[in-house]
Amino acid sequence: MSAPVIAVEDSEEQAHFDALIDADLRIEPRDWMPEAYRKTLIRQISQHAHSEIIGMQPEANWITRAPSLKRKAILIAKVQDEAGHGLYLYSAAQTLGITREEMTDQLIEGRARYSSIFNYHTPTWADMGAIGWLVDGAAICNQVPLCRASYGPYGRAMVRICKEESFHQRQGFEILLELSNGTPEQKQMAQDAVNRWYWPSLMMFGPTDDASPNSARSMAWKIKRFSNDDLRQRFVGMCVPQFEALGLECPDKNLRFDEETGQWLMSEIDWSEFDAVLDGRGPANTERLKRRREAHENGAWVREAAAAYAAKQSAKDRIAA
Ligand code: 3HC
Repeated sequence: MSAPVIAVEDSEEQAHFDALIDADLRIEPRDWMPEAYRKTLIRQISQHAHSEIIGMQPEANWITRAPSLKRKAILIAKVQDEAGHGLYLYSAAQTLGITREEMTDQLIEGRARYSSIFNYHTPTWADMGAIGWLVDGAAICNQVPLCRASYGPYGRAMVRICKEESFHQRQGFEILLELSNGTPEQKQMAQDAVNRWYWPSLMMFGPTDDASPNSARSMAWKIKRFSNDDLRQRFVGMCVPQFEALGLECPDKNLRFDEETGQWLMSEIDWSEFDAVLDGRGPANTERLKRRREAHENGAWVREAAAAYAAKQSAKDRIAA
């Protein structure tokens, strides 16, 4: 991990900010904050919000094909939750001085990042299980520490998000458990889906610590509480007993716990695949952005109607006042 680079301004405001961070207190929108802190938060929170919104697509793909009414209702609820998470996060980012329109433009014009994980396809129903168990499981692992992020609106949004993610993770686990205890074909479908999602879910934690340009500074500011590799380790450790409970095999045959170092030893992640996905060359990057752009264009009339309604309401309020 690169050394923390925090440009310290010699001012009373900077001293007050530093004291709040040192004391593990929260920075609120009204507080002075270094420009780089504000920019880092806008970057991370907006990327996170975009991930939630784009993340609706791989699962929405299965709503019309869910195997039962109950499964359909659960999946609809989950996809709606992701939309809600996006909204909490866009709202948190807006408190830092960026508008929703700017963030939306950055996303649909392909200028913003969103999580690599949502650029993979979901060919079978078992992918709904693997996404819930592995992707939402990795999200929880990464996001529970963010509930303690130093920026108040972000930390508070994360508390609510994490509660819902826990339900998502359990419903994914339950889908896989049922398939794993079903016919041999169903069990194989579950194993294939887990094989597809295991490595990409490890990539969700970001590059290794020594290749992560933002970690050191974000940790010094207590936005991130743990490094990418530490969280990845924690996640792998959580998965091992769950693989056993599911009766499925971990795709990493080299995975083992090293008592001496207290670390999980694993096969090398294919970082060239991660780089390609970040570079827009993943299996579904193009279609995810295209779909998002179309949804935005198709929703123009809703935004116009909402703006006209808001203008009418405020005119009414002015007359009444
Ligand atoms: N996908 C896409 N981009 C990634 C990435 C990933 N998996 N991991 C890292 N990156 C990007 C970073 O955004 C950064 O890009 P930038 O500098 O151009 O903005 C670059 O790669 C270098 O990575 P760093 O480790 O230096 O970046 P961070 O310190 O920001 O750490 C992170 C990356 C761990 C993802 C951190 O931003 C984070 O914890 N974000 C909040 C959580 C989040 O956004 N999760 C996304 C998934 S949301 C989700 O899973 C929804 C759920 O419903 C399933």
